[in-house]
Amino acid sequence: MTPQNNWVSLLLDWFDRSKRELPWREVKPRNPYHVWVSEIMLQQTRTETVKEYFIRWMQQFPTVEKLASSEEETVLRAWQGLGYYSRARNLLKAAREIMIHEQGKVPSDPEVLRKLPGIGEYTAGAIASMAYGVPVPAVDGNLLRVLARLYAVRDDVLSTSGKKKIGTLAESVIPSARPGDFNEAMMDLGADICIPKKPRCEKCPLMGCCQAYAKGMTEELPVRRRRQTQKVYYAACLFARQEGRVLLHRCPAKGLLASLWELPTFLAVSEEESRALAAEAAGAPLENPVWSHKHVFTHVIWYMTAYPVVLRDKQFEERGDYCWAAPEDYRRLPLCGPCERFFKDIRNGTETELFR
Ligand code: ADE
Repeated sequence: MTPQNNWVSLLLDWFDRSKRELPWREVKPRNPYHVWVSEIMLQQTRTETVKEYFIRWMQQFPTVEKLASSEEETVLRAWQGLGYYSRARNLLKAAREIMIHEQGKVPSDPEVLRKLPGIGEYTAGAIASMAYGVPVPAVDGNLLRVLARLYAVRDDVLSTSGKKKIGTLAESVIPSARPGDFNEAMMDLGADICIPKKPRCEKCPLMGCCQAYAKGMTEELPVRRRRQTQKVYYAACLFARQEGRVLLHRCPAKGLLASLWELPTFLAVSEEESRALAAEAAGAPLENPVWSHKHVFTHVIWYMTAYPVVLRDKQFEERGDYCWAAPEDYRRLPLCGPCERFFKDIRNGTETELFR
């Protein structure tokens, strides 16, 4: 059985009946700035989490202009908790470029969109189709999975050739009347029904057209190459206090935690080594740790331990990238994920007296 192109109308009928109610879908016609911000937030974050952030963001930065005129620290702070902060930095940079080169209007041409910081092929397709009705696919993991199953594509969907094959398929079926709804319907189907494991085929409006279903291959498809293994590091952190303040370090502008604030952290491939580096920096042997945590980034895992220390001289303060932060500062400063977690754990834990 070959999928009929009428699967697209079955999909759109299903979408009309069952689409998810999401804050960025509320304004009609769609607001391109809303589409853009939501797509960036959704790139690495669950929809449920994004809802709240999106609503708050639009209260704080309701227009491209308002965003473009904001300080980077304010923008990063609004992003805190979503992770992958380069997304927030790029939103700000792109907003400034849109003010200068596009009179404050989010572009509709996918090629122009792709030149903006943080906008790749997927996001350009999503904005152009959903906000402006341009018939281009938004090829994300959902669309790859749904089409790989519908057409029983056996290629590795993460390989260049697999992606290209599915991209071409998507271009050939996308309806020029409702391209944005098509892309969002594929996302909703992929999120709720055509899920990665144990797809809910009995609920699927496309079951009768699905080649993987007909061949009993829904669990085997899509084919994906194995994930890159994660590197493991040990991170010893200094928890230095002085009159209710905590010593924080601003990470370098480039790298995993670019420009975010952290406890002074010493990374090594063994726990002993990281501890020795931290002790050397503190200029004193370390006491028993007050916190430990495993932090999983995309390609790296950190086993973290925080040691309380008393610093006697000015070895840290004299460098520009350290500060003694009072509670009102670390509520305002953009903290890296592990540091945010540290303060949360310490506040919730039994170690509250450590702050005295
Ligand atoms: N994931 C990414 N973009 C989305 C959208 N527009 N609607 C729902 N889920 C999404």
